[in-house]
Amino acid sequence: MSTDVFNRVMVTNALSPMHVIEGLQGLVAADGLIGVMSSGQGSLGNNIRGGNDVYRASKAALNQLMRCHAARHADDARAFVLMAPGWIRTALGGSNAPFSVEEAVPKVVEVLLAQRGRPGLQFLDREGQPVPW
Ligand SMILES: NC(=O)c1ccc[n+]([C@@H]2O[C@H](COP(=O)([O-])OP(=O)(O)OC[C@H]3O[C@@H](n4cnc5c(N)ncnc54)[C@H](OP(=O)(O)O)[C@@H]3O)[C@@H](O)[C@H]2O)c1
Repeated sequence: MSTDVFNRVMVTNALSPMHVIEGLQGLVAADGLIGVMSSGQGSLGNNIRGGNDVYRASKAALNQLMRCHAARHADDARAFVLMAPGWIRTALGGSNAPFSVEEAVPKVVEVLLAQRGRPGLQFLDREGQPVPW
């Protein structure tokens, strides 16, 4: 893989979400929720097939950066969620993905909202099940 592609994917998927969180967290209620779009492909434990190397690495990096963020804010009443939405038909997911945006997004939102009032960081799928780190 080229260094340029690696850098661009890492900056887009790992660094930039953290910049957004650091920049806008002051607008989130003290007991509010910060949800971050991760991916099941960011799971190290579930990676037995490989593929999409840079994408996987960028989401694993995002997860790690969020763990650092959550550790820095361990006294926060806020809930932090890394979401693994599943394989969804989008420009990124492609036409073979089993779920539409219309099917997936309400579940994602439901799971996120259910975490309000639960401080700490969780890595969850759209059914609310924990994803192995
Ligand atoms: N689809 C899936 O199966 C799936 C699974 C797991 C996780 N996710 C995650 O869900 C999120 C949304 O993905 P999606 O499937 O909805 O993909 P998508 O339809 O391809 O949309 C990607 C979005 O990201 C924007 N974007 C891309 N590069 C950017 C950059 N450098 N700076 C600012 N914006 C940028 C695009 O903007 P433009 O339209 O302006 O280019 C577009 O709005 C991503 O974080 C993805 O990793 C998706």
